[in-house]
Amino acid sequence: MTFDFHGKVVLVTGAAAGLGFACAKAFTDAGANVVMTDIGQESLDKAVEELRSAGAEVFGVCNDVSKSSDVSAMVDAIVERYGKLDIAVNNAGTASPLANFHEVTEAEFDRVIAVNLKGVWLCMQAEIRQMLKQGEGRIVNMASATSRNTYPNAAPYVTSKFAVAGLTRTVAVDYAERNIRINAICPGNVATPLVVSMVKDLSVLSAKHAMKRMGTPEEVANGVMYLASDLSSFSTGSLLEVDGGWNAI
Ligand SMILES: NC(=O)c1ccc[n+]([C@@H]2O[C@H](COP(=O)([O-])OP(=O)(O)OC[C@H]3O[C@@H](n4cnc5c(N)ncnc54)[C@H](O)[C@@H]3O)[C@@H](O)[C@H]2O)c1
Repeated sequence: MTFDFHGKVVLVTGAAAGLGFACAKAFTDAGANVVMTDIGQESLDKAVEELRSAGAEVFGVCNDVSKSSDVSAMVDAIVERYGKLDIAVNNAGTASPLANFHEVTEAEFDRVIAVNLKGVWLCMQAEIRQMLKQGEGRIVNMASATSRNTYPNAAPYVTSKFAVAGLTRTVAVDYAERNIRINAICPGNVATPLVVSMVKDLSVLSAKHAMKRMGTPEEVANGVMYLASDLSSFSTGSLLEVDGGWNAI
C-alpha cells in the first residue's frame, strides 16, 4: 500500500521527534515537499538533515505554535518558498507529569492548553486563511485516544485533547462547503519521548489497547496520510481512531 503526494506541499508541526517526524518521513517517502517545524532548533536541524540526507525535499522552520506571530511567519515562509500549502498536520504537542487534579497548578494548565489547544487553533486559522485563497486544503489535527476516553491523573492533557476533537469538528463544518477538509487522528499509545516522559512502564500503556501492544509511529502516519489523501474525500470533521481498539473496549 502506497500513497502518492508528489507536487503537494505538506506542513508538519512538532516534526523533530516522535509522531511528527514519522509523518514528515512518510510524506517525503510519498513524494511530497515537506515543511518541518518545531520549537527545538537543534533537534529540528538534526531531523531535517536526516531526511535530506535520504534525498527528501524538506525545509525546517523553528517556531512556537502557541505564539500567533510565529505561526503567521511559518505560513508566510511556506507560501514564499512554495507558493501554496496543500496539507497541514497540526501535530505539535506537550504533556505534563501525572498528578492529582486538585494539585495541578494554574501555570501547568496554561502551559499544556497553550501548546495543545491554542497551538492547533492558531495553526488552523493561519492555514485556513491561505487555503481559502487557494480554494482548497486539507488539515489533519493530532488528537488522541484520550479525545474520547480518559486517563488517570492526566487532566490537563486529556482536557486539551477533548478540546482538539471539538475544535476539529466545529471548524470542519464551517469550511465543509469551501473545499477545505479538516479531520483529526486519535492515536493510542506509541512509545515516543512525550509518552515515556509521562509513563515509565509501557506495559501499563499497552494494556489499555484491545490488541495489548503499543502502536508504532508509522501506523499513526498511515492514518494521517489517509486523511490527507483523496481516499478520504467524503470525510470531514471525523476522528479516526488508530488506537489498537482502546476506544472500543
Ligand atoms: N505518542 C503517543 O502515544 C500519542 C498518542 C496520542 C496523541 N499523541 C499526540 O501526538 C503529538 C506528537 O506527540 P509525540 O508523542 O510524537 O511527542 P514528542 O514529544 O515525541 O514530539 C512532540 C514534538 O512537538 C514539539 N513541540 C512541543 N511544543 C511545541 C511548541 N510549542 N511549538 C512547536 N513544537 C513544539 C516538541 O519539541 C517535539 O519535537 C502530540 O500532539 C501528542 O499529544 C501522541
